[in-house]
Parts: sequence; structure tokens; C-alpha cells
Amino acid sequence: MNPWNATMNLGHEDADTAHRELHDLAFQAAGAMAREDVADLGASLRALTRASVDHFAWEEGEMARTAYPEAAAHRDAHLTFLLELRRIAKELNEHGVSPLFRLWFGSRFVDWMRFHVLGADAQLMRHLRLAAAAAPAPGPTPAGATATAPVAAASLAPTPSA
Ligand SMILES: [Fe+2]
Ligand SMILES: [Fe+2]
Repeated sequence: MNPWNATMNLGHEDADTAHRELHDLAFQAAGAMAREDVADLGASLRALTRASVDHFAWEEGEMARTAYPEAAAHRDAHLTFLLELRRIAKELNEHGVSPLFRLWFGSRFVDWMRFHVLGADAQLMRHLRLAAAAAPAPGPTPAGATATAPVAAASLAPTPSA
């Protein structure tokens, strides 16, 4: 497994920070697997599960808030990932760093994360950017917008004398 690199960034600060954390935890777990340190590997997988649950909840909240049309499929993908994590942890508890564990973690699991971030998550981040651009901006009236009452009132106010 390779360390984090910027090709995984999607241009959304919160998502990129969380994805990097997930990747770093998986990288830690890969190191523990190479050393066959079952205790450290188990701790890394538990931390990875907690961080994944938190991050998925954030993404799913954003999907609900912005009525994302692909939300159901994306939620299913998160659920599949969490179920696989649970299966991996069970395999580790019962058989240690077994050949099956190595195969599962080293290929299926790590590839899934990369595939999900660069596929489904990238699509979601594009949707969130479009939703943010379509939402009315808080604060001053954007250039080109129709003047609102307070702006019109201000333009009629007497000019202070010098
Ligand atoms: Fe994500
Ligand atoms: Fe996701």
C-alpha cells in the first residue's frame, strides 16, 4: 500500500481531510500487517472503523441536505465497506494475520477505498459544489442581482455633507 498522495484530493477541504485520515489509518494497518503485529493491526482497524462511520455520516448528511439523486447507491456502498471491515476484523480475531486476511486487506479492501473516493465521492463533491453555487449567497447582494429593499433605501439616503 502506498502512502497518501495528492492525486486522491477532490478539492473539498472537509472530504479531503477525512479521506487522508482514512488512508493514513489503512496505511498504519498495512504496516502492522507486515510486522504481523495483531494488537496494533486490531487497534488500527478499530480506529479506521470509527473514522469511517463518522465520515460516512457526514457525507450522508450532505446528501440528504442537498437531495443528492445518487444517495441510495452511495449509502449502500458505505454499508458494504463497513460490513467488509467487520468481516476483516473477525478474520483477524479468529485466525490472526492469515493468508485470507492478507489477500482481503491487501487487494479488495485497499482498492475499494481508492475506487470509492475517486468514483462515488468525486461525483458527490461535484454535486455539492453545484448545490453550493446554486444556493443564495449570504451577505451582500451578489453582483448582477436585483437590488433588494435595503440597497434601494441606502441609495436614496441623503449623501453626508463634507
Ligand atoms: Fe468519502
Ligand atoms: Fe462516500
